[in-house]
Amino acid sequence: MSLGSAARAAAGVGLRASVRQAFRPRSIVDMSYSQHFMDPTGSAIPATMKKLVVTKLSPNFRQAVTLQAGVPVPVPGDGDLLVRNRFVGINASDINYTSGRYDPSVKPPFDVGFEGIGEVVGLGLTASARFTINQVVAYIAPGSFAEYTVVPAKFAVPMPSLKPEFLTLLISGTTAYISLKELGELTEGDKVLVTAAAGGTGQFAVQLSKRAKCHVIGTCSSKEKVVFLKSIGCDHPINYKTENVAAVLKKEYPQGVDVIYESVGGKMFDLSVRSLATKGRLIIIGFISGYETATGLSLVDAGVLPAALLKKSASLRGFFLNHYLSQYQEAMLTLLKMYKDGELVCEVDLGDISPEGKFIGLESVFRAIDYLYMGKNIGKIVVELPHPVTSKL
Ligand SMILES: NC(=O)c1ccc[n+]([C@@H]2O[C@H](COP(=O)([O-])OP(=O)(O)OC[C@H]3O[C@@H](n4cnc5c(N)ncnc54)[C@H](OP(=O)(O)O)[C@@H]3O)[C@@H](O)[C@H]2O)c1
Repeated sequence: MSLGSAARAAAGVGLRASVRQAFRPRSIVDMSYSQHFMDPTGSAIPATMKKLVVTKLSPNFRQAVTLQAGVPVPVPGDGDLLVRNRFVGINASDINYTSGRYDPSVKPPFDVGFEGIGEVVGLGLTASARFTINQVVAYIAPGSFAEYTVVPAKFAVPMPSLKPEFLTLLISGTTAYISLKELGELTEGDKVLVTAAAGGTGQFAVQLSKRAKCHVIGTCSSKEKVVFLKSIGCDHPINYKTENVAAVLKKEYPQGVDVIYESVGGKMFDLSVRSLATKGRLIIIGFISGYETATGLSLVDAGVLPAALLKKSASLRGFFLNHYLSQYQEAMLTLLKMYKDGELVCEVDLGDISPEGKFIGLESVFRAIDYLYMGKNIGKIVVELPHPVTSKL
């Protein structure tokens, strides 16, 4: 996804919230002599910081990325916010980004990390029309794997509080919401198969399909994930490590599956195609089983596709969040409301049960990516970036 354009859509969500914000009391400071507001004492902005930088193109995150310390904290421009990141989201595509697959023209060094939530600790004059110091914002913009990130104000979304749950909605939640709405054509009683169902975006595909009164089947790799899937309403979790998914689908759903939210690729894609019902829709969300390879692709049985699809009047539909930005604002507002009303579980995996414990600090981004590719996560992986000093503001 092009982060800039996704973020522009994310920013639209901020409009209503920023109207509410405008009515909050705030001190008026004449900073007209300055290009930006910074509050080094009140919010304890240091002179330097740590950040992760891609120094070599590779899908191997550890080989591609270097942790740099002593980097000057960037200064926001007129339309920018300086955000102190408190939680950053881990995405399967972080390694597509480090390998240069998003933009083949980009050359290292470049910043990495797609999304974050934190407080505004500095801002430009124009940005101050909509944001204030200490306000909590979430954003999609490149470079979130840093202690501080300069975020164009138009890419920031005001958030009610500093909860990692909000981060789960920015990319993972909206991807499920928009793709199922635009391409799923969900009808009550449809059978929906979600692959990688217990992960960052899969968890939302399960819940949204259930909300549309569909029968939901979800694949995953452990008994703990099966328990989690049941807890969020999945009718039929399948542990593919212990069960043969193709055989289970054939036996339990002889008429086939109406909608498939497919994130894994390779053999999972092939068996999914074979399991489609007449007029079934398979939405290609990703193909994670190929991302760690040099090509980034996972091989599929392409030769059989025309016959397999024609025979069932079925279709394959690609989905890329970046191409559905006009729907982003509505998606984000709906998901935020559902979460606020207790109608949506936003499962966060902070790494508590990972071998070396909770993901805290930028150093732990490396093992958080390993954890995702070991298939251990339940929900969205989030890394916490603690800040020891409480703001005086
Ligand atoms: N199209 C878009 O706009 C868009 C946006 C966001 C995400 N996505 C896609 O959604 C998918 C999930 O991304 P995410 O960031 O939310 O990750 P995630 O689901 O939180 O984590 C990935 C999960 O995939 C499974 N997995 C990991 N490595 C695997 C491998 N080598 N082979 C097979 N399965 C593997 C594991 O679950 P199991 O227990 O099931 O094995 C793992 O927990 C990816 O394909 C990603 O590219 C697409």
